[in-house]
Amino acid sequence: MPVPQQLNPSFAATRSPLPNRPPFPDKIDLARERLIVALDVPSVAASEVLLNRLDGTCQWFKVGLELFTTAGPAVLEPLAARGHSVFLDLKFHDIPNTVAGAVRSAAAWGVRMVNVHAAGGPAMLAAAKAALDGVANPPELLAVTVLTSLDSAQLESTGIARSPAHQVELLAKMCLDVGIRGFVCSQQEAAALRALTGLDGILVVPGIRPAGSDKNDQKRLATPAQALGAGASFLVVGRPITQAPDPARAAEAILKEMAEAL
Ligand code: C5P
Repeated sequence: MPVPQQLNPSFAATRSPLPNRPPFPDKIDLARERLIVALDVPSVAASEVLLNRLDGTCQWFKVGLELFTTAGPAVLEPLAARGHSVFLDLKFHDIPNTVAGAVRSAAAWGVRMVNVHAAGGPAMLAAAKAALDGVANPPELLAVTVLTSLDSAQLESTGIARSPAHQVELLAKMCLDVGIRGFVCSQQEAAALRALTGLDGILVVPGIRPAGSDKNDQKRLATPAQALGAGASFLVVGRPITQAPDPARAAEAILKEMAEAL
């Protein structure tokens, strides 16, 4: 199975660099471009504290439901002002017209990644994709296939008798059919998705823990090296960085581990 060492060039070209980086990035800088910090905090003020502490260390941040529901798009302003790249993780799932509008709104905020639930169906996925047609410098559209919190029993309760792995494959093929090539997935699904997407796919993998760190409530975990080895394009890391006594130092240790695996 091919393992990407480089991001898709058309996507990489759209990323905004951190200021004052050398023109020929070393492996730590390449790792920095593939690490997304989950900004899972309850307020803009708390996010600004964290951004100050990670200034110059991390480039990508993920804004999810908690922070966005509290603060709204205002939370994106300090991130944009600092030149950060943002993954807006709101997992849109609604009728095609509504999702298309939400994706367009996200693009207008200048976020670099936005996501939808693949379970919304082909028409919704196609509408989400079409919403970005003609948008200058559009965000990468990612799909969530089966939530990692759903096991076979939970899936069956929703009327789906297939195993989670088969459901992931079915939904991923549906996404690829409408031209969506980016996925949020666990490390366990990454290799199968990479086989489906080829090198062009963007795989964003959460559930990352450096060796020896607290698992928190995550069950299916991978180290940074394992996730990159399975084909991850980007790693999403929250608490190992955001709840560390020294977040910048924790991020640097993860970047080093990633750089060694690149
Ligand atoms: O703190 P931690 O590193 O566990 O945070 C992981 C982040 O990735 C959280 O924002 C979580 O919501 C998100 N996520 C996840 N598992 C998924 C999808 C998203 O942990 N399957």
